[in-house]
Amino acid sequence: MIAQRPPMGWNTWNTFGHNINDALIRETADAMVDLGYLAAGYEYVVIDDCWSLMERDYTTGRLVPDPAKFPYGMKHLSDYIHSKGLKFGMYSCAGVRTCAGYPSSFDHEYEDARTFAEWGVDLLKYDFCNFPNYANNKNRYLTMSMALRSTGRDIVFSGCNWGRGEPWNWMRSIGAHMYRSTHDIYDSFESFADILTSQIPNMNANAAGCFNDLDMLTVGMHGKGNVARDVNFTTMNEYITQFVFWCLCASPLMMGADIRNLDEDSRKLLQNKELIRLNQDAECRPAYQANGTTKDFPIFIRMLENGEFALVFFNLKDADRTLEIPLMDIGVPYSSGVGVDLTDMLTGEHIGIRRDDMRLRVTAHGTRAFRAKLVTL
Ligand code: GLA
Repeated sequence: MIAQRPPMGWNTWNTFGHNINDALIRETADAMVDLGYLAAGYEYVVIDDCWSLMERDYTTGRLVPDPAKFPYGMKHLSDYIHSKGLKFGMYSCAGVRTCAGYPSSFDHEYEDARTFAEWGVDLLKYDFCNFPNYANNKNRYLTMSMALRSTGRDIVFSGCNWGRGEPWNWMRSIGAHMYRSTHDIYDSFESFADILTSQIPNMNANAAGCFNDLDMLTVGMHGKGNVARDVNFTTMNEYITQFVFWCLCASPLMMGADIRNLDEDSRKLLQNKELIRLNQDAECRPAYQANGTTKDFPIFIRMLENGEFALVFFNLKDADRTLEIPLMDIGVPYSSGVGVDLTDMLTGEHIGIRRDDMRLRVTAHGTRAFRAKLVTL
């Protein structure tokens, strides 16, 4: 069984776009191991779009890695990645061309799946650009899912159709292990706040084996790279909000920054043990919004293993604010004689026991996140 927890790794697209090559991938694999990412749980090194020549090989019909970018071919690179204890991910698309215009797998599903398996691929991201109007979205994802299974290799199937046809209702059934439900992220608070609010209603579809992918993280990009924007550089406070939400939702955690040269605060955030423990919780339960349907100040609980739970507050507006929740709204009324014992997941600080209600200050675009357990008083 694969993807029993949200897959974790790194993907080329957010920072490097088409600017990818063998050396970058090897150096990133080295950084994954040497700088503690693998130990923290990140294992997939994923090459996104733009890795092949513009045409298939005329005689074999196969996809061909661009020799200017990948002079030793993919198997050689894959062997290097595996030798470091990491896993290898690649990219294709359900349409006739990828989003950047390279050949993709429509009507080539089985031969491409065989090629990927021969190269030792462990994850395939499968996009949706240039998809023929006459073809059937679900059926083509099903076809690639079957093609991957037919290889006999464990390959995480990562569907990416940006929410077309409500993938939360069928990607699990056709065999995907993760699926994108939104348009592409870019490195600004507006972009990931939009992903956050749009995905609250879809959380229930998450469970072991198949996870809603909120897109590659932008934590640590600081305005540099392919999906960076020149305006309103993302602050550390905002990156914390992004990472906490991705962890809360059991989203796959695919880093998108240049991890060879990351600032220390971003590295610590991406390797925060408590938040990763939240993301990887064995019960894989979805979070539940405990304060109605407000989109600006959502407060969530998420049931965790060992009788614990998470309690997470978000302030998505532009000014600091005090948020409040009566604990009876998370099922613990004063009359129960039970209190909630809290530990701050960001600082590790043990906060102590709260009863009746919780009021706390949350900075603009910020979050507060607690691991909690019940204690009888
Ligand atoms: C789409 C996907 C992105 C990325 C690009 C590559 O836009 O949603 O994540 O893979 O294609 O061209």
